[in-house]
Amino acid sequence: MKKKTVMSVLLVLFSGFVILMAQTTGNNVVDVILKSYSAKVFTTIPVSDSDIDLIVKCGMKAPSGRNTQPWKFTVVKDQTITGEILQNITAGNILIIISGQEKQDGTVDPFNCALATENMYVAAQSLSLGAHIYAGPVSIINTNLKDKLGIPADYKAITVLRVGNIDKSIDAASGASARKKPEEVVNYK
Ligand SMILES: Cc1cc2nc3c(=O)[nH]c(=O)nc-3n(C[C@H](O)[C@H](O)[C@H](O)COP(=O)(O)O)c2cc1C
Repeated sequence: MKKKTVMSVLLVLFSGFVILMAQTTGNNVVDVILKSYSAKVFTTIPVSDSDIDLIVKCGMKAPSGRNTQPWKFTVVKDQTITGEILQNITAGNILIIISGQEKQDGTVDPFNCALATENMYVAAQSLSLGAHIYAGPVSIINTNLKDKLGIPADYKAITVLRVGNIDKSIDAASGASARKKPEEVVNYK
């Protein structure tokens, strides 16, 4: 191969490398967050128990006010029960119900549970799984399913995290919802 041709090939390869690098920061956590999206299409491949353990561990690691850790995580693998919570859920998906402890006035501060939910949402995607947070099903859980799910009486479901395998060849991330412009949500002084 002529010297000029070799140089052209190297230039093309280097340009490709630069473009590829520009899409990621090189920081795993930041990259997972920037690429995260609410999965909608799942495959039926079951989520492994080791992945479930890691995801739950990340939920438990979330910070909480005065380190009260006022949450319970209910992992639902039973397909009959997952179907009662979310209609048309894909077989093999699991649901993690994040419930918060009631205060004396019967209310639950959702803030700590939200942090635990987000930790698990990010962890699942970091493990190359799809994840989706739902608030819609919590009313049916709190009204009808707490006993069946073993959620203590003084806890209320706050969010439901769906986790499942996804077809990684599909660029589903491009379907993520658009975000507001930085100038709409960030200010500097
Ligand atoms: C607190 C909370 C509640 C949500 N509840 C629902 C829900 O009930 N149903 C649903 O389809 N998505 C639900 N979502 C997902 C949001 O619609 C989604 O995060 C948002 O549209 C951004 O989309 P993206 O993550 O794909 O970019 C919820 C998300 C959060 C954080």
